[in-house]
Amino acid sequence: MRVLGIESSCDETGLALYDTERGLLAHVLHSQIALHAEYGGVVPELASRDHIRRLVPLLREVLRQAGCDAATIDAVAYTQGPGLAGALLAGAAFAEGLAVSLNKPVLPVHHLEGHLLSPLLADDAPEFPFVALLVSGGHTQLMGVTGVGRYELLGETQDDAAGEAFDKTAKLLGLPYPGGPALSRLAETGRSGMFDLPRPMLNSGDFNFSFAGLKTAVSTRVRKQGEAADARFKADIARAFQDAVVEVLTQKAFAALRHTHMQRLVVAGGVGANRQLRQSLDTAAQKRHCRVYYPALEFCTDNGAMIAFAAALRLQSGMEVAHPAGIFAVKPRWLLNQCPFPARSAAL
Ligand code: KG4
Ligand code: ZN
Repeated sequence: MRVLGIESSCDETGLALYDTERGLLAHVLHSQIALHAEYGGVVPELASRDHIRRLVPLLREVLRQAGCDAATIDAVAYTQGPGLAGALLAGAAFAEGLAVSLNKPVLPVHHLEGHLLSPLLADDAPEFPFVALLVSGGHTQLMGVTGVGRYELLGETQDDAAGEAFDKTAKLLGLPYPGGPALSRLAETGRSGMFDLPRPMLNSGDFNFSFAGLKTAVSTRVRKQGEAADARFKADIARAFQDAVVEVLTQKAFAALRHTHMQRLVVAGGVGANRQLRQSLDTAAQKRHCRVYYPALEFCTDNGAMIAFAAALRLQSGMEVAHPAGIFAVKPRWLLNQCPFPARSAAL
């Protein structure tokens, strides 16, 4: 079975072809970083228009790279939510239209399910069950995962997502968009222990997070420093911020492993690309005889491969798919635990 996956929830247009026999055949991506850079963040209307411009050329390209014809696609999957409404609509309309023209079934996919299952794309994939730490620009969640479509929310952020906190803090320090990777590069040049920042909710006794106060603490310190905020100061405060985020994420993730009696931790989402977070989780795992799994770096951030793959797993697990009826909706706000696995059999 061959599934085309289409991702367009934010500022990346990603398309991929996943074959259940042969694995990932090809994946292509267009990032809108340059488009939004001058605004210091994603401009939703520009994002939607760019997705519309990119989808057809990217489809041609992914088919070319995979060396196959559109007629060989068995199902079309797309990100239905959560995300920016206009951006989601661009991908949804394209996917539904393509499915009608090919007379093939269509499968709406939850963006976070794509992230969560993306480490299973690797050769050395984790087995179920596992705890998933989802750390992206829009979400920070710990989930207990016992199978495809079987996700239990253990805890989540009460305010900003980890990636959002990275992006906002980067902006405070005058770093270019996208802030997360830039802040993390700066932090690597800073010294630990120069500033004492809070560890929000570290001892809250649950699996929830809060990052808004941490960003405010950096903002207060930067304001106090005023004109004297030189390169050394910025690197040290970036390091202090990253140390705090990494410590909270690491401790909560391992508390969730203890709580669920699981030994496997899967990290997904853009912040999962952070080198210091990976080092901290790996060190903690060694001490506790656990193992941490990450998606390949190219699949940490948004991409079409994770959408094609999540859809393929659902289809293989017996999910019923609908032929397009010309009516569809996107879900800009959509909780993953509201995305149950339909227990009917596949009609492919
Ligand atoms: O998963 P993703 O591509 O998109 C969402 O679904 O949100 O995640 C993007 C987020 C952004 O906030 C970005 O700043 C952050 O991931 N990010 C990083 C790093 N690379 C991306 N944050 C910290 N360190 C990184 N190396
Ligand atoms: Zn994402």
